[in-house]
Amino acid sequence: MPKIIVHGTGEFEVPHGKRLVKALVEDANVDQLHACGGQSRCTSCRVKFIAGEPEEITEAEKETLRVREISEDGIRLSCQIQCNQDMELEIISRLEGSGRKDLGSPVSDEIQPEPVWTEKS
Ligand code: FES
Repeated sequence: MPKIIVHGTGEFEVPHGKRLVKALVEDANVDQLHACGGQSRCTSCRVKFIAGEPEEITEAEKETLRVREISEDGIRLSCQIQCNQDMELEIISRLEGSGRKDLGSPVSDEIQPEPVWTEKS
């Protein structure tokens, strides 16, 4: 099982292939935002990778990062990432301090929209 290291929180083994946003909420017990419900529309699920950033990316994530002008190294949308390898990351978009009333809409087990995989760069 892949190991997820969350700075300031701990290390967690999570089921292979699980959506990262769900692993953060359900396995690491992080108050990770996911306002749009994992649809690659809001960017509130963004995290910062320290290590283990996947090379592959969904077309939807790539387009959302482009449109929102998010280009900083290591910033990715956790709703568009599967836990297929060990990862180390920082939480940068939490409910605490956000002013929102909840984490966001429910997130399905499968990546949405239907993923079309491509290379990051
Ligand atoms: S972009 Fe909205 S939850 Fe990921």
